[in-house]
Amino acid sequence: TPHLLGIKDLLPTDIRLILDTAQQFKDVLQRPVKKVPSLRDVTIVNLFFENSTRTRISFELAEKRLSADVLNFTTSSSSVAKGETMLDTVNNILSMKVDMVVMRHSASGAPHFLAQHIPAAIVNAGDGINEHPTQALLDAFSIEEATGGLQGKKIAIIGDIMHSRVALSNIYLLTKMGAEITVAGPPTLIPKFIKEAFGVNVTYNVKEALEWCDVANVLRIQLERQNQPLFSSLREYNLAFGITRKLLDSIQKNIVIMHPGPINRGVELDSDVADGNESIILQQVENGVAVRMAVLYLLSNREH
Ligand code: CP
Repeated sequence: TPHLLGIKDLLPTDIRLILDTAQQFKDVLQRPVKKVPSLRDVTIVNLFFENSTRTRISFELAEKRLSADVLNFTTSSSSVAKGETMLDTVNNILSMKVDMVVMRHSASGAPHFLAQHIPAAIVNAGDGINEHPTQALLDAFSIEEATGGLQGKKIAIIGDIMHSRVALSNIYLLTKMGAEITVAGPPTLIPKFIKEAFGVNVTYNVKEALEWCDVANVLRIQLERQNQPLFSSLREYNLAFGITRKLLDSIQKNIVIMHPGPINRGVELDSDVADGNESIILQQVENGVAVRMAVLYLLSNREH
């Protein structure tokens, strides 16, 4: 069974196919009638063991635009709260003839574990601090749309790199597609091995990263994944590493600003930057639907 568990195992040709298919679906989404029959009689369950706004809504909308039958599952209102295991939960749902599983979980590797035990196609919608493959695909799609391509582009990934599945999936994808990456942020939030392991540049100076890049992908400080704070205070984080209007205006070039959401306004990104002309944050969200339609369609193996 084909799955999308991460970007790590994809070839550049796989990524190209997904992005080109997403463009076709984006064209469809501009029409007055946005629904296509591609996944009629395919049943998909969205299993969210961890909170989400964008990813959950975006997958549900993608599935509905493709005419799939959609089930939504969130842990807090389920029998997981009574102690049922993830595997029992999924097997019970699959016994009702479900074809595909979209899954988010706080444990890294949860969808990989599931893929070894169930016959349905699995799409990883974020697993712990490991990967968030559809986010990286929609980020890549949005970078191509804003700048014309990925090859040779200079992308800065700024903020909490250590706890970010968005950073890891972006690093895998962008390096496979020929972009150059600099990660920037506080030393406590950037893994020491990242330069050697992934061939990215590292700087602890956000201004230097901004002066270098074409695109800045700014990430949230993930307090929920830190046992103890890895910096002194949110106020000091903003002063030292936040993207403020003053800082951006001091750079003598145009930079595209991205953020996967949810934003900590006034921490990693000031409101007048998040809502400013350089920002493509809401285009990223819009593109997420077309990208997820492409992923689900390609995994379903349906004919056109
Ligand atoms: N970008 C993202 O994954 O947002 P949600 O956590 O709201 O899905």
